[in-house]
Amino acid sequence: MDPREARRVEALTQRLCAMTRCAPNLVHVVRSPLRICPLGAHVDHQLGRVTGFALDQALLLAYVPDPGGRVRLASDDFPGEVSFDLEAIEPAQPGDWGNYPRGAAQVLRETFGITRGLTGVLGGPMPIGGLSSSAAVDVAYLLALQQANGLSVEPADNVRLAQRIENDYIGLHNGVLDQSMILLSRRGALTCLDCLDGGVTHIPNPMGRRFDLLVVFSGISRSLVGTDYNRRVAECGEAARLLLARAGLPADDASRLRHVPREAAEVDALPEPLARRARHFFGEMDRVEAGAQAWAAGDLESFGRLMRESGESSIANYECGSPHLVTLHATLNAIPGVWGARFCGAGFGGSAVALAHPDARERIVAVVNRTYPKEHPDVKSSFSLHFVATTDAAEVLR
Ligand code: GLA
Repeated sequence: MDPREARRVEALTQRLCAMTRCAPNLVHVVRSPLRICPLGAHVDHQLGRVTGFALDQALLLAYVPDPGGRVRLASDDFPGEVSFDLEAIEPAQPGDWGNYPRGAAQVLRETFGITRGLTGVLGGPMPIGGLSSSAAVDVAYLLALQQANGLSVEPADNVRLAQRIENDYIGLHNGVLDQSMILLSRRGALTCLDCLDGGVTHIPNPMGRRFDLLVVFSGISRSLVGTDYNRRVAECGEAARLLLARAGLPADDASRLRHVPREAAEVDALPEPLARRARHFFGEMDRVEAGAQAWAAGDLESFGRLMRESGESSIANYECGSPHLVTLHATLNAIPGVWGARFCGAGFGGSAVALAHPDARERIVAVVNRTYPKEHPDVKSSFSLHFVATTDAAEVLR
């Protein structure tokens, strides 16, 4: 284990032992990594194809099972304690970090009738948003509660359970990108997922080409509930229904843009803003396909260019970049040695990610530190840069 992670495991274990008076050798630990999505933005909820990596920055959850069916949690990052009985799970409350453990417990109770709870302490890796820490906590609680109840669940089934936490319990109509990257990634490989049928391929970095992955946290985190996220998903669904109807094909509430045959995708015939949303979907599907081929060929320059174009389409067609992220997109893409950059995740706040030549490291740090806080003084003490590496999927460490 990475020594930094080992120190964090130790600190969480000590805190948990102080909280429960249990012996350290009874403590279990789940590691649940953050993720990035270089290509395939906002197409997962339309059953498109996406790409991603899990990062060497992971949430850790130290816990001991509770045979009495109580869940009690403390966090390094959120105030107070969360505490509830598996038999009396309350609905989600806006902005409450307890929503994620309650949601995980609820779907596991509905699916497997779990009876054992846990007492745990959660620790986040770094002060950043936009790398799907919410899916990382969903996965951490699922794995911990499953282990505490002696359940063994396939990663693909956990992808669906995590989706139910978000869609049914929290009320965010997102797709399966985040938890899939957290549950299915492999160190050093680009993970490609087809959200239509769940098919996964891992494309290794050919010839071991050197590259840097840089995450720039914009300084602003945002929970997606309450943003335009659900509205955009609804617009895409509406675009799908109109295109299917135009082509004389059946359409209903479950229709997604992926169901529209390419030859029937007469995007220009749609009213705005639906045309722009559909344009983003079909363009992004092409970029993901071209990106997978470029990665497989070791053509990181072309992969980077596609990331930049993907970010441009997110801004122009999907209309989802916050002003801070739009600045980072422009700043990073203009630095020599950056092959490409775009914002991660939904783009309503959070982080940008860049793929770059390792020799450009110092220049990138200097340019971002000089120009970004000048344009956005409101975040001058909260934005941050992180060079990250890829890692394996979430797991119960012990
Ligand atoms: C968020 C959602 C994902 C996905 C991305 C955008 O991270 O949780 O399902 O839609 O935004 O690609």
